[in-house]
Amino acid sequence: MLETEQKSQLMDDGTMPMKVEGGRILLIDQRKLPGIFEYFDATDLDAMCFAITDMVVRGAPSIGVAAALGMAYHLSKLASAGNINIDVVKNTKDKLDATRPTAVNLKWATEKVLDYAEVLLKRSETGKKFGEQLFSYAESMLQDHLDRNRKLSEFGSAIFPQDGKVLTHCNAGSLAACGWGTALGVIRSAKLNGLCPSVFVDETRPRNQGSKLTMWELNQDKIPCTLISDSMSAFFMGRKEIDLVITGADRISANGDSANKIGTYGVAVLANYHKIPFYIAAPLSTIDPNIESGAQIPIEFRDTDELKTIDGKSITIEGAVALNPAFDVTPAALIKGIITEEGVLYPPFSTSIKEALERDKSTSRR
Ligand code: MRU
Repeated sequence: MLETEQKSQLMDDGTMPMKVEGGRILLIDQRKLPGIFEYFDATDLDAMCFAITDMVVRGAPSIGVAAALGMAYHLSKLASAGNINIDVVKNTKDKLDATRPTAVNLKWATEKVLDYAEVLLKRSETGKKFGEQLFSYAESMLQDHLDRNRKLSEFGSAIFPQDGKVLTHCNAGSLAACGWGTALGVIRSAKLNGLCPSVFVDETRPRNQGSKLTMWELNQDKIPCTLISDSMSAFFMGRKEIDLVITGADRISANGDSANKIGTYGVAVLANYHKIPFYIAAPLSTIDPNIESGAQIPIEFRDTDELKTIDGKSITIEGAVALNPAFDVTPAALIKGIITEEGVLYPPFSTSIKEALERDKSTSRR
């Protein structure tokens, strides 16, 4: 096996979904890919809230880090003007937390910023110094996610079969996860380790993150990929053309139930019927130890125009009644393993998740 340093020269970190430049927070506008590559200025709090709600930035870890940066920037501005106190910090967090309810990484990241702001305020740090320290703390989350994605992907690569044909749903690549990727990260590491993966990519209706973003990322990495519609996975599983399934997650409860993009649950049922291993790849920040089961995960319902229109044009009858849940929950019983930076976790998940979180707590730099 190649040494890590040599490996990282073979493939870069992927497309980073955001950058801080000239004091501005710039997000790649993921709504416009693959046709247009453009940054969206989300420096101000309202712009950041809009960017998360409208999915300029998307994918659980990327949403979290973007929110942390937006929160830190807003608070540093207030601190410079002498208007900082713990209530202002909490209100800013609440505003960001309300933008998208399912991905727990959002609350996880704003909680970290809140905790650190509290520490700084207790030390009577105010003004410019408060802002600088808080912002650089939020910025460090970006690198931390990248490191963790690399680590979990190595663990995932170890269970990846030679020449494995993998199906993935939605986009759990570098755009969604602050570099390298989670589900796509495992596939990239499998490629680096000489395992020659090829990928079936679910289109992922209604927002088409598969056809628009996952195909774009895999193509850049020169990983063979084939686009299929969401309704075709049973066909290819039945023909034994899929060896394993790996998806990301937006929130994992203490018992291992995993919320991910709508359609994931169906893919997991199909995979189990066909005896194909179904894995989730996610950093520990996606685990919500405060909820026992998936029944407690809040599911975001989005505007039904996402379903009823394509490129602004109606594709159904006028006044059609529609529903648009953005996520579903895959029961733990359908999941073979959860690939994390603390290793691949296996059932019983209530035990393996708890142990992984404890190991992480004892070694974490955060
Ligand atoms: O609605 P989205 O595009 O933010 O949903 C994203 C997903 O469901 C991803 O699969 C999940 O966030 C994992 S990202 C590493």
